[in-house]
Amino acid sequence: MAILFTNIKQLVTFAGDKAPRAGAAMREAGLVKNAAVLIDSGIIVAAGPWAAISRHRLAKKARKIEVNGVCLPGFVDSHTHAVFAEPRLKDFSMRAAGASYQEIKAAGGGIISSIGAVRTQPQRAMAEQLAIRATGFLECGTTTAEVKSGYGLSLESELKILRAIREAAELTPLEMLPTLLAAHGVPPEFNGETQKYLDYVTAEILPKVAAEKLAVFADIFCEKGYFTPEQTTAYLKEAARLGLKPKVHSEQLSNYGGTRAGIAAGAVSADHADHVYAEDIAAMRDAGTIAALLPASNYYLGLAKYPPARELIAAGVPVALATDFNPGTCPCWNMQFVLSAACTHCGMTPEEALCAATVNGAWALGIGDRVGSVVPGMQADLAFFEADDYRELCYYFGANQCVMTVKKGRPVYSRVS
Ligand code: NIG
Ligand code: FE
Repeated sequence: MAILFTNIKQLVTFAGDKAPRAGAAMREAGLVKNAAVLIDSGIIVAAGPWAAISRHRLAKKARKIEVNGVCLPGFVDSHTHAVFAEPRLKDFSMRAAGASYQEIKAAGGGIISSIGAVRTQPQRAMAEQLAIRATGFLECGTTTAEVKSGYGLSLESELKILRAIREAAELTPLEMLPTLLAAHGVPPEFNGETQKYLDYVTAEILPKVAAEKLAVFADIFCEKGYFTPEQTTAYLKEAARLGLKPKVHSEQLSNYGGTRAGIAAGAVSADHADHVYAEDIAAMRDAGTIAALLPASNYYLGLAKYPPARELIAAGVPVALATDFNPGTCPCWNMQFVLSAACTHCGMTPEEALCAATVNGAWALGIGDRVGSVVPGMQADLAFFEADDYRELCYYFGANQCVMTVKKGRPVYSRVS
């Protein structure tokens, strides 16, 4: 049955080219006041001014839902590490006492400290835990999320994580795109022999993941003490050869060359980008690589430095925003907080931040032709907020303003009375 959403005070459509948005196009929100959205069979049929939509032939018989707020495309969170068994509270206490990311790692914390519990957790429990977390995403207006492996770091456990993501997709309406991040760190049994571990990942894990079609993307953490730019390019090229689309964690803690190493292998997005130099920015622009910025992790790490969004946008690099939800550097799944951090600490305008969190997030996942904007023919993934003006989503922070989420045409969360 068709649904007609009425009394939308402001509708942000992001109507425009079916392509990642860059430069001034990121500020073209496609705003419609006094709007309505008509959906049918999971697809957006019409979206625009109420006066026009109400005359649509399907409008009369449609179920009506009165909104009295702001409507946006559902958020597309293009970077999460949502599969982990336990929070890292020891790391948190150390950080609160002033320890840095590197100091925590040296004390036995960090990524490697997450693998013990992940390796012993049964797949079903992992899937159920992820589905519960997915509810939190949906309640905050996120309708699609990328989910990485990377806290198992063995053949068995990395396959288990990816299979758990697949299993969780049966338990939640949140759409999840899986990423293999076996190259997240070197597990203790490899005694710091990074190349030996990467050879193992390449020979043992990658082909099985590709054969079972368990992941859409392959990612690698290119950073001092993790994987080098040379290893990054070689690994991602092999992943691409097997049909996984490359992504890279690059220039998060230092300028180390990960961005250009990822681009050399055809990376769809280069994520973090805190320490990018002009050469990296130019390379991203020339290659059309999306910069996925994760400012909630900078906030959580208590960093003074944030990714240089203004330089990236001025250079014409399409910018996406994502949570980076993970137990070590960003225990936050609420994209609304990311919007606040992006506007307050990265100098992004509300229009740019919302574009980055929706349409450009979708392109960072290669699905911008299907989700990320409120345009006829697109999947009916919508988020509704208690607000008079869309800028309130970036202005208020620390709260959840989302009151209803619609996934593939179905209301999956609502606290509208
Ligand atoms: O994106 N940088 C690598 N991966 C995560 C951190 C993971 C962790 O500390 O557990 C990130 O920040
Ligand atoms: Fe990350």
